[in-house]
Amino acid sequence: MTSDRGRPRGHSDVLVGLQYGDEGKAKIIDLLAPDYDVVARFNGGANAGHTIDTPSGRVVLQQVPSAVFHQGCELYIGSGCVLNLVKLRDELALLRSVGVDLADRLRISDRCAVVQPVHFLLDRRTGAAIGTTGNGIGPCYADRAARTRDGVRANLQLRDLLADPAGTAELMLAAVEPELEGEPDAGERLVAERERVAAMLESAEALRPMVTADRTHLARKVADGARVLFEGAQSLLLDVVQGDQPYVTSSHTLPGQAYVGGDLPPRYHRHTIGVAKAVVSRVGHGPFPSELGGERSAAYFAEACRTGRGRAEEQAEHDPLELLGSPDPLDVGAALRMLTGEYGSGTGRPRRIGLLDLEQLREQVTLHGVDVVYLNKTDCLAHYGDSHYGGVPVQLAAAAPGEEGGRIQVLPVFDAEQVRAAVAALPGLDGIPASMLAFKEYVEQRIGAPVIGLGLGPERDRTAEFARPDTLTGALSGALSGSRQAGA
Ligand code: IMP
Repeated sequence: MTSDRGRPRGHSDVLVGLQYGDEGKAKIIDLLAPDYDVVARFNGGANAGHTIDTPSGRVVLQQVPSAVFHQGCELYIGSGCVLNLVKLRDELALLRSVGVDLADRLRISDRCAVVQPVHFLLDRRTGAAIGTTGNGIGPCYADRAARTRDGVRANLQLRDLLADPAGTAELMLAAVEPELEGEPDAGERLVAERERVAAMLESAEALRPMVTADRTHLARKVADGARVLFEGAQSLLLDVVQGDQPYVTSSHTLPGQAYVGGDLPPRYHRHTIGVAKAVVSRVGHGPFPSELGGERSAAYFAEACRTGRGRAEEQAEHDPLELLGSPDPLDVGAALRMLTGEYGSGTGRPRRIGLLDLEQLREQVTLHGVDVVYLNKTDCLAHYGDSHYGGVPVQLAAAAPGEEGGRIQVLPVFDAEQVRAAVAALPGLDGIPASMLAFKEYVEQRIGAPVIGLGLGPERDRTAEFARPDTLTGALSGALSGSRQAGA
């Protein structure tokens, strides 16, 4: 396809998490980034935690798109995101300290809403009931929709702070003051809030060279041939409308939202890429149909949040291999959490663990038109071989209300070492055991989409790739319609 000016027109793909977050989206973005000119965010803020392993160690990014280590990639933060300015500046400093300077590569829309001190305060006061990350995200999006509070502006965009620092500082302090009224330490806290506002304004100023007021920035680039990959934050099951209220995030996480908060018209959309993980996890409260240990696990998580119990306490008290052999799914879930490191990258909280829920994935694939899927943590399924399941259990239907479990199918287990060795011997995929290929095919038929990559370890070169989204127009599009029919 060519543009009006005869140059090849670019395209955009959208990558989203298909479950409850933490599917390893950043690792896949890192893998795919060489095929794109821009990687862009369109929703959420510092509630995200994207872990990337680098030659200089592990980096956890919250707001910067994950393609930081690809020099040729521009990074863009779209107007649909909410910004924690101080954290963003710190993130850039952290990246500089590992040799990545984004000054010329990062662009930030000046229409992003700014997370204000009052938003943190309200989130910490009311968010615990949902299990929010406490980053002020919900109250910030709420103010964006409300626009004013008692007749004065409640939503402040980055451009407001840059145009009128003194005026916006006053507005932010005026919003927070009534919330502190009556508190015994109100005076001290107000001083701290003043300091916070000053730090925000300083950060805004430091970010100014990267801020763009050009709303057609991406659209012009793509019209001229650029290839954009949108990186969804949070995940489909946490969407404010499609997820289970109130246990959701406050923004839209769906692929279509890329063309609202990402500042690009939908005419360039090509593929929707989904990322799932084979051992499912959820942080925060709310329904989780395939949770190992069901309501008992949810209660354990709630208690861990209340008491601050995390990885260290669990590791000190339990032997994961002993738990893995237990007939109780609650113990199996705890063992998998310990063996596969399922603790929040941002919050450190233990994550609730569940079976790969193929019915749930199938629904998400259908509802959002997911073209291809990457399945991370497939190697971790090998642990089930030492559990009472004796194979890989997958969930095919939800449990009836009040019942634990659901309809489960146990598939043959594969040897993780064998699989990892095959992938380490790239470029061939010949050594991947037949049991794993059979598993992949079974999943494809159940969910109705091709699985084009299997994650077999945290490093990006531990991904068995069967195709790239780029090749979908060729041979794989046949496989795509084939598996859709098979799964229908
Ligand atoms: P909030 O987004 O901080 O308001 O939190 C709302 C819910 O979304 C909580 O259950 C959080 O734990 C969850 N959540 C928010 N961001 C992420 C993420 O990046 N990964 C996983 N869960 C998240």
